[in-house]
Amino acid sequence: MARGLRLTTGLVLTVAALLTMRAPLQGAPLSRAQNPQNPQNPLFLRVADAAAGKAIFASKCAACHNTAAGATGGFGPNLHGLFGRRAGSVAGYDYSNAMKKSQVVWNAKSLDAFLADQEKVIPGTKMPPTPISNKTERQNLIAYLEQATH
Ligand code: HEC
Repeated sequence: MARGLRLTTGLVLTVAALLTMRAPLQGAPLSRAQNPQNPQNPLFLRVADAAAGKAIFASKCAACHNTAAGATGGFGPNLHGLFGRRAGSVAGYDYSNAMKKSQVVWNAKSLDAFLADQEKVIPGTKMPPTPISNKTERQNLIAYLEQATH
């Protein structure tokens, strides 16, 4: 009986959560610029869940990357000061030529594309493929990076 109740409550909560998530999609469709999942929308970082992003970083990125100023020794470059800097520009880190020559500047938009498909944004990068295919996960991860790399 109690189990049935828990299951029902769980189901009701799930349906409620799904409806809440769908709510902004009803009515007039959002333009790309209005969509808070568009990395160029100023709301992009504010609506994200940086705590969820932290967990993604811990499981998928932290083995190779540090975010603290001055930390060295990772297989990947230190990500401190990431936002606004040119790709491949941490002094003393041995980047691939692909990364050094890419002309990419890191911001929410370029990170969103890079995290979805590294090879597509920087063909020949030596970062092992670590695609984050879920848009919301990328958004959360980018919000975490924005906080952790300052
Ligand atoms: C197995 C190791 C490894 C993992 C896991 C990894 N990376 Fe990397 N990452 C690298 C390496 C190596 C480079 C340098 C690539 C190059 O020079 O082409 C890099 C480069 C980068 C850069 C460019 C930094 C700069 O200074 O221009 C970003 C941003 C980045 N990684 C983010 C991430 C994120 C976020 C994750 C987790 C989703 C992640 N990486 C997972 C190894 C890794």
